[in-house]
Amino acid sequence: MIKIKNVNKYFGDLQVLKDINIQIEDGEVFGLVGSSGVGKSTLLNCLIGLEKYQEGSICIDGVEVEKLSEKELRNFRRGVGMIFQNFSLVGRKTVYQNIALPMECWHVPKEEIRERVIELARLVGIEDKLSERPSALSGGQKQRVAIARALTMNPRYILCDECTSALDPKTTTSILRLLERIRREMGITIIVVTHEMAVVQQICRRMAILEKGRVSMIGDTQDMFLQRPPALIKLLGEENDIEEQEETADRARITFNAPAEGNGQKILWELGQKLQRQYLLEDMQSFDFPDGRCLEITISIDREDRETCRQCLSEYGIKYRSISEE
Ligand SMILES: Nc1ncnc2c1ncn2[C@@H]1O[C@H](COP(=O)(O)OP(=O)(O)OP(=O)(O)O)[C@@H](O)[C@H]1O
Ligand SMILES: [Mg+2]
Repeated sequence: MIKIKNVNKYFGDLQVLKDINIQIEDGEVFGLVGSSGVGKSTLLNCLIGLEKYQEGSICIDGVEVEKLSEKELRNFRRGVGMIFQNFSLVGRKTVYQNIALPMECWHVPKEEIRERVIELARLVGIEDKLSERPSALSGGQKQRVAIARALTMNPRYILCDECTSALDPKTTTSILRLLERIRREMGITIIVVTHEMAVVQQICRRMAILEKGRVSMIGDTQDMFLQRPPALIKLLGEENDIEEQEETADRARITFNAPAEGNGQKILWELGQKLQRQYLLEDMQSFDFPDGRCLEITISIDREDRETCRQCLSEYGIKYRSISEE
């Protein structure tokens, strides 16, 4: 278990981490999101002892990271796999040699290395690429090699820093599926650092939003998506969605859990009954989360019906978000 308590971190006079409190349970995929420069990578570096923090405590499995000696740190890092955006593969080595690298550093016997490389290459689906050099691989394949390499020393933790940022959405989804399978089958705890909300939404049950070095929100990903706190609206870029509208109409987004097919239709039907007039259904989108699905609809109503609408939805615990300019 990872326990981060009241952590403050400075670069000179600049405070980059402010009173960080996060607890990550074993075997979970935890998302750390925030825009560029808020301190995500710095926090990861503090976790693995690459950066020092000046105040507070970071305990991994009950051990304070700051108190480890150089040798203990090296051993500790052996149990942590890292995956980055730029894959960090060695260009002049083959895929096989790249995956074998950490094991060679730890003087694992050659035969064992061979077995493990083949096993991991199979797991991540690149067994036919072992003799290629990284330059002959696609972005998604390179990331699979990096994941295989991160798994070689049987890590308990995998830290992904923007590991899908260089990939297209389809390849991103396939890499996220692979990470989720690794978590499920091997019980590895995964921390996903990203500025892409879609990535967190797909595999992280819980997440924290970092703003200017501070945790501004922490909790269940799907709940946050439904409640849309201001920090999340900013990340999703939705504050720019507010649009000019004719004076009498109001457009709104409504997001709700969609456990059963009929749920959304029932709510919309009831809304129609309450308003006693037509409203326009403009758009509908669904979003998948690890534990379920959310449905987001955009409707257009008469502006004077806004309060009735808000009230009707709040009975279901659903938020009415106007996207019309006042
Ligand atoms: N070695 C360093 N020395 C001084 N300042 C640093 C150092 N590393 C990071 N910073 C500063 O700390 C802040 C946080 O940087 P960090 O790299 O953790 O952000 P990030 O959230 O990972 O951003 P990105 O999404 O762009 O990767 C930034 O203001 C950055 O300029
Ligand atoms: Mg970073």
